[in-house]
Amino acid sequence: MGSPSEILLGTTDHGLGLILGIAGACRTDELVNLTVDDIEDVGSSLIAKIPNTKTKIPRIFVVTDVGNMLELFRKYLSLRPPHVKHKRLFLYYKAGKCSSHPVGKNTMGKIPSVVASYLKLPDVACYTGHCLRRSSATLLADAGVDITTIKRHAGWKSTTVAEGYVENSIENKTKIANQVF
Ligand SMILES: *[C@@H]1O[C@H](CO)[C@@H](O)[C@H](O)[C@H]1NC(C)=O
Ligand SMILES: *[C@@H]1O[C@H](CO)[C@@H](O)[C@H](O)[C@H]1NC(C)=O
Repeated sequence: MGSPSEILLGTTDHGLGLILGIAGACRTDELVNLTVDDIEDVGSSLIAKIPNTKTKIPRIFVVTDVGNMLELFRKYLSLRPPHVKHKRLFLYYKAGKCSSHPVGKNTMGKIPSVVASYLKLPDVACYTGHCLRRSSATLLADAGVDITTIKRHAGWKSTTVAEGYVENSIENKTKIANQVF
C-alpha cells in the first residue's frame, strides 16, 4: 500500500476530482471545464476559479494542504504530457501516466461512485456526479457554518437550498436535541 495520495491517484484522476469537487462544491461540468489556468499554486494552498457557472455567479475557492493535496495536485500536473494542446486540467490517467485526452462529463460524473466502490459502500450507483457538490454543502452545514457562507460557497442565488442543508445538518439536529432535553 502507498500513501493516501498514491492510492487516490492510483484510482485514476478520481482523487484530484474528488478533492477539488468537494472543496469547491463543483458541478460535474465545472470540473470537466476546469483549465490549468484556473488553478493557481501559491505554495501553501491552491486557489481555484470557476469562471462560468450555471447561475452566472463566478466562484473562487481555496484548497489547503490537508492530506497531501498539494503534492497530489503537483504530481498530477507533472504527469501532463508536454505536447498537450488544450488547457483542460483533467486528462485520462492510466497506469501512472496521463494521456492528452481530456476527461469528459460521463467519466467525471462517475467519480463519486468509483470512490464509493473503493470504500466498499453499498448502493454504489446512487453516488452521482452531483454528490461532490452535495457533500461539500453537507460538510459545511455539519460544521455549523452559516447559511450565507454556504450559499456563497456553492454559488446559489437563493437561500432556500442552503437553508435545507443547515436545517438538516447534524449540527442543527444536535442543537435541537439539546434544547429538547
Ligand atoms: C463547459 O463547456 C461546455 C463546452 O464548451 C459548455 O457548453 C458549458 O456551458 C461549459 N460549462 C461550464 C459550467 O463552464
Ligand atoms: C436550524 O435550521 C433552521 C432552518 O434553516 C434555522 O432557522 C435555524 O436557525 C437552524 N438552527 C441552528 C441552531 O443552526
